[in-house]
Amino acid sequence: MSTQFSAGAPPADQLNARYPDMKGRYGRFGGRYVPETLVPALDRLQAGVSRHLPSADFQAEFAHELKTWVGRPTALTHAAALSRRWGAEVWLKREDLAHTGAHKINNAVGQTLLARRLGARRIIAETGAGQHGVASAAAAARLGLPCVVYMGAVDVERQAPNVGRMQLMGATVVPVTGGDKTLRAAIDEALRDWVSDPDGTYYSLGSAVGPHPYPYLVRELQAVIGREARAQMLEQAGALPDVAIACVGGGSNAIGLFHPFLGDTVQLLGVEAGGRGVGLGDNAASLTFGTPGVLQGSYSLLLQDADGQIQETHSVSAGLDYPGVGPEHAFLKQTGRVAYESATDEETLDALSECARAEGILPAIETAHAFAGARRYAARHPGARILIGCSGRGDKDMPILQRTVLKDYR
Ligand SMILES: Cc1ncc(COP(=O)(O)O)c(C=O)c1O
Repeated sequence: MSTQFSAGAPPADQLNARYPDMKGRYGRFGGRYVPETLVPALDRLQAGVSRHLPSADFQAEFAHELKTWVGRPTALTHAAALSRRWGAEVWLKREDLAHTGAHKINNAVGQTLLARRLGARRIIAETGAGQHGVASAAAAARLGLPCVVYMGAVDVERQAPNVGRMQLMGATVVPVTGGDKTLRAAIDEALRDWVSDPDGTYYSLGSAVGPHPYPYLVRELQAVIGREARAQMLEQAGALPDVAIACVGGGSNAIGLFHPFLGDTVQLLGVEAGGRGVGLGDNAASLTFGTPGVLQGSYSLLLQDADGQIQETHSVSAGLDYPGVGPEHAFLKQTGRVAYESATDEETLDALSECARAEGILPAIETAHAFAGARRYAARHPGARILIGCSGRGDKDMPILQRTVLKDYR
């Protein structure tokens, strides 16, 4: 049975325990809209998720890998200088310190362990910023499985340092030259590969998007971020934050941070890619500017024209440059439990520079959208206790930063 919420926050027990429903729906969003050829593979995956994910055995193996290989728990850092500058109390959940440099590793490890249990002989993945590709390559190398990563040709170029990292860890990187040559095209290509060998291949999807059960699976694997952050805030700050803020591409780091706070009175704010501005094609802010529709197997909010044609997107960050978003975010927006706004390329690069200079932390450009949103939030709410999901580190972005922030640097 699916329940529709028109307004207001649904009761916490319903959010945490019941969503998605049996059909993978979050209210009216989510579900599974795929060609017949994919149905058996998704059925198998769903059965595998139901069987293994809750098992004590799987959870113990996952926890062990997160602790001894990924380096969890990641730190919670008090950002003293940003706190002073913004007139707020700022805390950073440091996913940039996780192995391979971003939150993506939590999901990649979990899905690769699942793939082994399901008897897969090969891992495939898509990547935008390259972080999920690097994480998948690393996890596959650790478990001794071959790995192929699809990456849009535009992203191969703008995230070049990550291409080399994947290759060094034994993965084959396939540049995708069709479609928009970014993340959407890479997901299409990975789905095509999966259909051709649904038994031997495991498709490790990198965000909380796609057909059921992916949005649920990815959320469950990423919720470790929010569970740790919640406990660390109580221990180190002595209180929960007033607000938790994360950047939103497909939505995996944000849903992972937000989920354990859904039952609290903590405000939640997702920050999307505002790109060059508000025009269709100038941004990648599907929750802020999108309308409902189906993309890559799921019903969610999308950037599309009046005829339902998916639009090209623009963002300075490869990892947020996607015309859709995970269905649970669309649902959380509809219910009003989570607020979403966007930050432009310019605001984001400025926030990145400020964080790097003030805190000695170079965030990924994706992550810097959350900092831009947090700075605005602090201006509206003086003295607020703000938790920022620091989803990844910015080393991969050096080619872009050389051309932008550092262009006039002497
Ligand atoms: C560091 C970092 N943060 C955020 C994202 C956006 O993805 P998601 O919205 O799934 O967290 C990416 C995507 O590649 C990323 O590399």
